[in-house]
Amino acid sequence: MQSLTSLLSTYDPLTGEIAGASTVERHLCDLRGCFADSAAFEAALARANPLLYSVAAVAPAQGEGELHYGVGKIMPGKIGDEYYMTKGHLHAWRPAAEFYFGLSGEGVMLLEDEATGESRMLPLRPNSAVYVPGFTAHRTMNVGPTPLTYIGVYPARAGHDYSTIAKANFRCIVVERDGKPVMLERPART
Ligand code: PA5
Ligand code: MN
Repeated sequence: MQSLTSLLSTYDPLTGEIAGASTVERHLCDLRGCFADSAAFEAALARANPLLYSVAAVAPAQGEGELHYGVGKIMPGKIGDEYYMTKGHLHAWRPAAEFYFGLSGEGVMLLEDEATGESRMLPLRPNSAVYVPGFTAHRTMNVGPTPLTYIGVYPARAGHDYSTIAKANFRCIVVERDGKPVMLERPART
């Protein structure tokens, strides 16, 4: 039997911290190539390099059948019309699905089926759960005025494949139109 400390962890739904867990921080400079408006990105980065999001993760055990979870916190803000977002990824083990649970703030998730390219935008809010099927790229945006926090629960062997997104990016973007998030086709690079 595993020790109690690996069976129980405590997280803060507002700060996104998990007691005793390691946290990864992503600043604006880490998101180069993600935002459609590269001129707005470079102009913002010339002014400052703010923290865009952090992820704390708990990995109690490795192996088939085990589960891990992470708590993400995305700050409010935009680059051009696009909301602050995560890098986004596919799971290295493609069949791995994931559940996201909104904790605080207001977000959306962009899901893209790797085989068909079909894209969907779903709300991520407190008291809602988003199911990310296997073989699906996923990215999360904060579309509200306060920090967005959420939990993601995934198979221990899922892994993160960032390189596929870094090469091709998502087919769609999420922008603010009349104060609301709208999913659009990614504009061609000029
Ligand atoms: O495992 C997940 O899907 C999440 O915990 C993400 O890692 C988190 O949302 C941060 O996104 P990304 O890993 O794309 O930077
Ligand atoms: Mn994931």
